[in-house]
Amino acid sequence: MDHEEAARCWEANAEAWTKLARAGYDAYRDGFNTPAFFELLPDVAGLSGLDVGCGEGYNTRLLARRGARVTAVDVSETFVQYAREAEAIEPLGIDYRVASALALPFEAGSFDFVTSFMCFMDVPETDRVLAEAFRVLKPGGFLQFSICHPCYDTPHRRNLRDADGRTYAVEIGDYFRNRTGDVVEWTFSSAPPEATAGLPKFRTPFYTHTLSQWLNLLIDAGFRIERLAEPRPDDEAVRARPGLQDAQVVAYFLHIRARKPA
Ligand SMILES: C[S@@+](CC[C@H](N)C(=O)[O-])C[C@H]1O[C@@H](n2cnc3c(N)ncnc32)[C@H](O)[C@@H]1O
Repeated sequence: MDHEEAARCWEANAEAWTKLARAGYDAYRDGFNTPAFFELLPDVAGLSGLDVGCGEGYNTRLLARRGARVTAVDVSETFVQYAREAEAIEPLGIDYRVASALALPFEAGSFDFVTSFMCFMDVPETDRVLAEAFRVLKPGGFLQFSICHPCYDTPHRRNLRDADGRTYAVEIGDYFRNRTGDVVEWTFSSAPPEATAGLPKFRTPFYTHTLSQWLNLLIDAGFRIERLAEPRPDDEAVRARPGLQDAQVVAYFLHIRARKPA
């Protein structure tokens, strides 16, 4: 699958994704993934930032509320339209554009930082994606992004559950097989049938790398790796959203901050 076909998948996901995420069913994002990302994020007040793969803009708005001047891109027109509608209702000064991570429509050295929340594993040609992020950063600027954890979101994965339905282990395999656009069909696991009724399943193409491949891709792009995080929900988060319990067993997400040398 090439990047245009991958983009068409995302355009087809945008309507249902926005509806369900805005209804609170992106539970891993809301319950711990986004809070952990912001814990890792340096102070961005007064800085200019680019959010790549912004979707309907949930995390982009959080960035803007931290005082950054934010530009955001997504390859899907429908996602950008929803994000712009939210901006019209609550103006935060965010400039949304339809554009691909593979060809950012900005001059070299335009931004103090680049963020990307759960997008880079959805885009082919990761080396080009990282080269584009590197290009648009000012010297000394940083890239912070989150992805599905390469070690635990493997082509084979099965949750092993006890008699009470609690996950106690995750069976993983096929780690070394890079996915090159295999499409996975799924929906938010916390969404009840009445919420998903009439909505198509998401179809997301995956482009995966092993952990060492990800880190070497960053190094080859010229970045200096600065900080890593593997967020997990605490007990309070699991009490609030019991479906998050499985993410206490292994790391579902990986957060990476890397810097363009000054
Ligand atoms: C898992 S969603 C995450 C959305 C948002 N960042 C969030 O955290 O809620 C992945 C996003 O990446 C976008 N995307 C996929 N391929 C892209 C590309 N080549 N360039 C820009 N955005 C892309 C999708 O349209 C989608 O909005």
